[in-house]
Amino acid sequence: MTDVRPATEAHLPAIKAIYDVEVRTGISTFATEPPCLDYWRERLESTHPGDHVLVAVDGDDVVGYAYSGSYRPREAYAQTRETSVYLSSGARGGGVGRRLYDELLRRLRADGVRLVVAVIALPNPGSQGLHRACGFERAGVLHEVGRKFDRWIDTELWELRLT
Ligand SMILES: CC(C)(COP(=O)(O)OP(=O)(O)OC[C@H]1O[C@@H](n2cnc3c(N)ncnc32)[C@H](O)[C@@H]1OP(=O)(O)O)[C@@H](O)C(=O)NCCC(=O)NCCS
Repeated sequence: MTDVRPATEAHLPAIKAIYDVEVRTGISTFATEPPCLDYWRERLESTHPGDHVLVAVDGDDVVGYAYSGSYRPREAYAQTRETSVYLSSGARGGGVGRRLYDELLRRLRADGVRLVVAVIALPNPGSQGLHRACGFERAGVLHEVGRKFDRWIDTELWELRLT
């Protein structure tokens, strides 16, 4: 049974391992070099309202995570948070992403967050499906905004108003 709970320091290496695979092999992130553990530690230690890191745990294994953090650093964006979610390849398609997001969005509502933004690099029907299922709406597309693996990639902005 997969359990969703707040991440702790002990979960960070597993979170990093899941993300690093996507950095190296996928387009869902525009990072091309795996970030160091301190990148994740900073997210975990953030005390800004609306910042969370959650993990999905199956027995002793972290099979996925979701987080919320700054959308853009300027002060006026304070009540907007950007969310993201990643699962290990074997955990996809079985409702774990939905459970992580449902819990994350519940926490964001309780924190008084006004708008949630997600950025989806295309194509990604799984992420589009998850965000649509959670009530997000497509807000627009940026064409050829990134280049990875020698090709141009579009991103879609998705938004969810919480208040
Ligand atoms: C995107 C991701 C997190 C989705 O998690 P998941 O556990 O596979 O998704 P779920 O099984 O919880 O499905 C959630 C919803 O999306 C829908 N969905 C999932 N995959 C879909 C697909 N390929 N096409 C259409 N809808 C899809 C499901 O029907 C479900 O809707 P429901 O709750 O109304 O039944 C997961 O596939 C993943 O980790 N992908 C790689 C990393 C990534 O792309 N992260 C997103 C970055 S923006």
